[in-house]
Amino acid sequence: MALLDILVYPDPRLRTKAEPVEEVDGALQRLIDDMAETMYAAPGIGLAATQVNVHRRLLVMDTSETKSGLQVFINPVLAGSGDLVESDEGCLSVPGEIVPVYRYPNIKVSALDREGRPFEQDVSGLEAICLQHEVDHLDGKVFVDYLSQLKRDRIRKRLAREDRPVHPRSTPSTKVSAVS
Ligand code: NI
Repeated sequence: MALLDILVYPDPRLRTKAEPVEEVDGALQRLIDDMAETMYAAPGIGLAATQVNVHRRLLVMDTSETKSGLQVFINPVLAGSGDLVESDEGCLSVPGEIVPVYRYPNIKVSALDREGRPFEQDVSGLEAICLQHEVDHLDGKVFVDYLSQLKRDRIRKRLAREDRPVHPRSTPSTKVSAVS
């Protein structure tokens, strides 16, 4: 397995809209394993393929305390329900920023698993928030898009001038509900 480089905002490649995965083969499964290793090392609770410069609809997630609950979603389709809730989120592609975003509290997701088998799942809480954050990445969207132009500019300037490590780490914060 290998650690992959995570693209950092305002890298224009984060704006790419990912294409559907057409075949779940060994190469894709190796990518999944590398993405999982990269997510755990960061550390984060979710990672979209877009963030490692692969523009296919694929994401990994593990919101468990013990980091033993890896979930793989290939070609995920989300349906949200419930009243929008505010979530304070972090993002591995926007290190050091916590951004309030409104998300659906409940999600029905349909996707393929690591073996290419279709499944459906109902998720809520942190998992629901994380899935919405990651699918935004697949659509070329970064959570700073929910902020005002002024705040976005401030973040862009800070990250553009910062001497960043290859694998950026987020600032630990008790407020963070999701770094992904
Ligand atoms: Ni993110």
